[in-house]
Amino acid sequence: MARYTLIELPSADSTNTYARNLSINPDDSTPLVIVTDNQTSGRGQRGNSWESHPGQNLTFSLVLYPRMFAPARQFELSMLVSVGIVNALKKHIETTARVSIKWPNDIYIDDRKVAGILIENTLSSSCIEKSVIGIGINVNQQHFESDAPNPVSLVHVIGKETNLKQLLDNIVQAILDMYESYVYDPEPDELTYLYNTLLWRHDGRTYTWHDTASDTDFEATLIGVDCDGTLSLKDTGGTIRHYLFKEVSAVF
Ligand code: BTN
Repeated sequence: MARYTLIELPSADSTNTYARNLSINPDDSTPLVIVTDNQTSGRGQRGNSWESHPGQNLTFSLVLYPRMFAPARQFELSMLVSVGIVNALKKHIETTARVSIKWPNDIYIDDRKVAGILIENTLSSSCIEKSVIGIGINVNQQHFESDAPNPVSLVHVIGKETNLKQLLDNIVQAILDMYESYVYDPEPDELTYLYNTLLWRHDGRTYTWHDTASDTDFEATLIGVDCDGTLSLKDTGGTIRHYLFKEVSAVF
């Protein structure tokens, strides 16, 4: 039996929107992948749009039914997906460039963003009923028009074009490897440790960050991320500061 079902759309406004609108069949928990070569209104984090020229990149949504996850464990799912993508991209690029995770779930090559993830979960009171994991990977696109601050494509890193179908399968398989082994044997501490080893800026150096609430910049080293997604930074005064998503951003 196939490990996942693939739906290829000639075009879609957003594969996440398409996937969210599909009704849930409680008898079928086969992972589903919705992919299009032409996403016309791709959605990103924080209400941003996602730029992708037709036929040049991967824009797809993976639908999982992680009913064994309580709602409070949404960040574990996010870590599994990020680690899976990093594993697949590391194999693919085969260079010394560092593939890392910029908290909470952007994928970077060195200091530039190669992929973004938008996870939209449908929750019940006791579990995650359905997870739509939207993934955009810059693959063969040479130039970017939007004001995305630091995009990079795989073609810039490896110097040649990538077959999109093959890369899609490699990425999905790598995510499912992570997900299925975790469902079989959930080890939150090990997963969190692994995620932390792959974190961007997790190198003991001091960097500049921006605190959203106070609208101020500060200098700090990255201590790590907890299993629930909280980021800890140690500022130059020695204070450990804890942040949730959107409460802090990296300053370049
Ligand atoms: C981000 O802002 O970094 C997240 C970007 C997520 C983009 C992907 S492309 C496929 C899927 N469909 C969407 O509309 N968005 C996600």
